[in-house]
Amino acid sequence: MGTKCRVCGGQVAEFVDLGNQPTANGFLLPHEVDGEFRFRLAVGACESCTMVQLMEEVPQELRYHAGYRYQASGSAGHRKHFRADAEWFLANELTGGDPFIVEIGCNDGVMLSAIAEAGVRHLGVEPSGNVAELARAKGVQVLSAFFDEETATAVRGAHGAADVIFGANTICHIAHVESLFRGIDALLSEDGIFVFEEPYLGTIIDGMAFDQIYDEHVFYFSAGSVRRMAERFGFELVHAEHIAMHGGEVRYTIARPGARTKSAALDALLAEEEAGKLSEPLTFARFGRNVERIRDDLVGLLTHLRAQGKTVVGYGAPGKSSTVTTYCGITTDLIPFVVDSTPGKQGHLLPGSHLPVKPPSAFSEDYPDYAVLFAWNHAAEIMANEQAFRAAGGKWIRFVPEVEVL
Ligand code: SAM
Ligand code: TMP
Ligand code: ZN
Repeated sequence: MGTKCRVCGGQVAEFVDLGNQPTANGFLLPHEVDGEFRFRLAVGACESCTMVQLMEEVPQELRYHAGYRYQASGSAGHRKHFRADAEWFLANELTGGDPFIVEIGCNDGVMLSAIAEAGVRHLGVEPSGNVAELARAKGVQVLSAFFDEETATAVRGAHGAADVIFGANTICHIAHVESLFRGIDALLSEDGIFVFEEPYLGTIIDGMAFDQIYDEHVFYFSAGSVRRMAERFGFELVHAEHIAMHGGEVRYTIARPGARTKSAALDALLAEEEAGKLSEPLTFARFGRNVERIRDDLVGLLTHLRAQGKTVVGYGAPGKSSTVTTYCGITTDLIPFVVDSTPGKQGHLLPGSHLPVKPPSAFSEDYPDYAVLFAWNHAAEIMANEQAFRAAGGKWIRFVPEVEVL
């Protein structure tokens, strides 16, 4: 029967299979290893609307709960980026009398805390209780719920229409797109905007960032597929621009038809996608083959280093590291542990591959010969912080867009 497109009901054609995988943020304690949740992590493209999406999905309650590990404020780069977003909204969109902004998936309040500081009316909708509490501690108003039509209607009833609805690294997580857009329709003011920033299909394909594929990322958006999705649900894509987050994302702006002027940047991006054949079957097939090659190269390099008696550790335990280590079958004999600055991940095991996660001090107290840069999207920040590793003769290993020793 195959998978039906979550946007248009068309047939989804699979192009990459990353095997049996856990939930990427499902960090475990050693006694929890038995019975770890698994599902088949595979991605395909809709033959009708081109939307790239997971073949199988994990129920949202298994992904987002009070033990959700991802904390958006974990990196200085993220804090700076979301403060700039908040300042832009305050200066350009939240200028009328008593404006109101809603964030879908506000996490620990990294963006809304700046809105709260400015005294502007706001609401975060956040189902993961632990991170919602961190946001509340920063003075952010949070509703603990999944955003859908029902939640949005209730928010509209209680607070009125929103001038801005924002989501970052969250909209591509929401499988129930029809209910999402009905909710946007219920909540957004007549000339309001729905803005979201998500991993970009073009960057994933061009940069071979296959580790961006995991259970939480149900969709892999392009300007073309988002434009068709917006139209299908009664909206219009009016702007799209590249932003330098998570290794390369796009910020999309959606409005009611005719409410806003379309930007030249959107036309340029749509044309670029056409010229680059971004959504064509041959592009997807090539991506699938390259993923297998990177796996073979990385396992080959690690096996060679082990044979030479070199020590290797992993740097960073982002969701992405679960995909790559599980897909490549990397075990502790190749990488004995990974280090990560997030306290909630330390002392746990990486989902799937079960590599132990230690604090960064485990790295700096006894430098290995090599470090695999799993948090490669933070390469500049990490390499700047860890200059002494290099000075001591240490080498970094990257694996996207190809395996490389730096
Ligand atoms: N916005 C932050 C950022 O960009 O760093 C956090 C992104 S985090 C990867 C995704 C967040 O979306 C999680 O905190 C999760 O609990 C939340 N989320 C997932 N599904 C949601 C839904 N249907 N409605 C609202 N939030 C949701
Ligand atoms: P992210 O790419 O999903 O934000 O995850 C990055 C992970 O890398 C996160 O778990 C925090 C970790 N990290 C470090 O351990 N050290 C660092 O210097 C940075 C920037 C991130
Ligand atoms: Zn479709």
